[in-house]
Amino acid sequence: MKYTVCKAEELKTGQMKAFTVDRKSIVVIRSQNGEVYALRNVCPHKGPALSDGSLDGTCLASEPGEYNLEKVGEVLKCPWHNWEFDIKTGCSLFDPENVRVKTFDVLEEEGTVFVQV
Ligand code: FES
Repeated sequence: MKYTVCKAEELKTGQMKAFTVDRKSIVVIRSQNGEVYALRNVCPHKGPALSDGSLDGTCLASEPGEYNLEKVGEVLKCPWHNWEFDIKTGCSLFDPENVRVKTFDVLEEEGTVFVQV
């Protein structure tokens, strides 16, 4: 089912907001490239709201002593122990096959953001 969450202009680039949709807490995020993503707003580790965390990138090592900041603005970090989740897939960065957050389809139409739950 499709639910209205906000006006498109209320969600700026790099911003995230929490909404309750169909009794589920959902965090809606506008990435640096303007795309909008929605994830369940509960960390699968101990349960805090991921919307209280931060949007960031992640450091990937390419060679010993060399680190590259990747996925800038596409990594949602839990506020408690910094587990990192890819906002596009909901997968954790450390164990993407087994630890993930549910994602929801997002539609942006006529200046309104909708989430399908
Ligand atoms: S509660 Fe989220 S990483 Fe521990």
